[in-house]
Amino acid sequence: MKNNQDLILAFESSCDDTSVAIVDTAYQIHCNLISSQISHNDFGGILPELASRLHMKNILYLTETAIQCAGIDQRRIAAIAVSVNPGLIGSLIVGLSFAKSLAWSMDIPLITVSHLLAHIFANYLEHPDLNPPFAALVVSGGHTELVYFKSDHEFEVIGKTLDDAAGETFDKAAKMLGLPFPGGPVIDKLAQTGDDGFLPFPRALNRKDNYNLSYSGLKTAIKKHLANQDREYRNRHINNLAASIQAAIVEPLVHKTVRWCRENHVQTILLAGGVAANTLLRRLMRETAEKHRINVLYPSIKLCLDNAAMVAAAAVTKYTSHEYSNLDVNAFSTKGTRRL
Ligand code: KG4
Ligand code: ZN
Repeated sequence: MKNNQDLILAFESSCDDTSVAIVDTAYQIHCNLISSQISHNDFGGILPELASRLHMKNILYLTETAIQCAGIDQRRIAAIAVSVNPGLIGSLIVGLSFAKSLAWSMDIPLITVSHLLAHIFANYLEHPDLNPPFAALVVSGGHTELVYFKSDHEFEVIGKTLDDAAGETFDKAAKMLGLPFPGGPVIDKLAQTGDDGFLPFPRALNRKDNYNLSYSGLKTAIKKHLANQDREYRNRHINNLAASIQAAIVEPLVHKTVRWCRENHVQTILLAGGVAANTLLRRLMRETAEKHRINVLYPSIKLCLDNAAMVAAAAVTKYTSHEYSNLDVNAFSTKGTRRL
């Protein structure tokens, strides 16, 4: 045992990763296991039915292994946490049903959390002394939102993408370049030795009057450009193409987030979600924000991607304020950040 804090057993199954974690109420991770479903890679995207079946196959084994790896007596678990929105509905239901049955059989509270808030709260796992106010940029496969937190309980969405999410744009661009899924990490790696000035792709809604974004113009521009080129061109310039696309996705995120923080005198920015693992986003956000004395935090790479420790982190404030869910609670797939 690392300390005497209460333990939360958490589940994450909203997409293609099954994850089980044990985290205490001081945000210390005792175990965080992730089983990534590589079987989808051959299909160039995620097959929802396959994802649900693999969650069912993995979840019991992962739970037993997590309890062993944390080295705890399972009677010390004080609450069960699970993400219930947004995500693939069949996948969410697997995690929720398992979590409900454990909460019922162990006679301990069930805490339901938003997957997007969980991404944001992942920052507490490495910065447990963090305190609102802050602005959080959540950039994942399905979402791109700038969210202002006045307190842990009160937040508002300041801006969001009007069409594709940043992660989705990385994945679609990679597909057009003939690269494997998920495309974000592949483009990130290739871009490191590429020239981002190779092609001046359009930047999403760099207008002054709002904080929304749009990536459909960029997607069309990439498609049009590649339509006139052969495979040999693509292969020869793959690093430069990756760097140019990455810059066009990342720069507007940085520009809008920092502008909002400056205008509203907010001193802290959190990055969250799978795209928060992006090398350029992490570097450019820090460099740009620090010029204005704004602090930028992001989780380590493993905690940016889908994992159950972040679900436990989002459950901590609910646990301490006794905000529990009834066992008739449902999962739902509606998009957007919301408090459940
Ligand atoms: O948060 P996440 O793991 O799952 C969702 O909740 O969607 O995010 C997955 C997304 C994918 O679109 C993936 O391509 C992107 O995060 N991603 C990255 C990087 N690592 C993952 N995008 C850019 N650069 C990366 N290094
Ligand atoms: Zn996610």
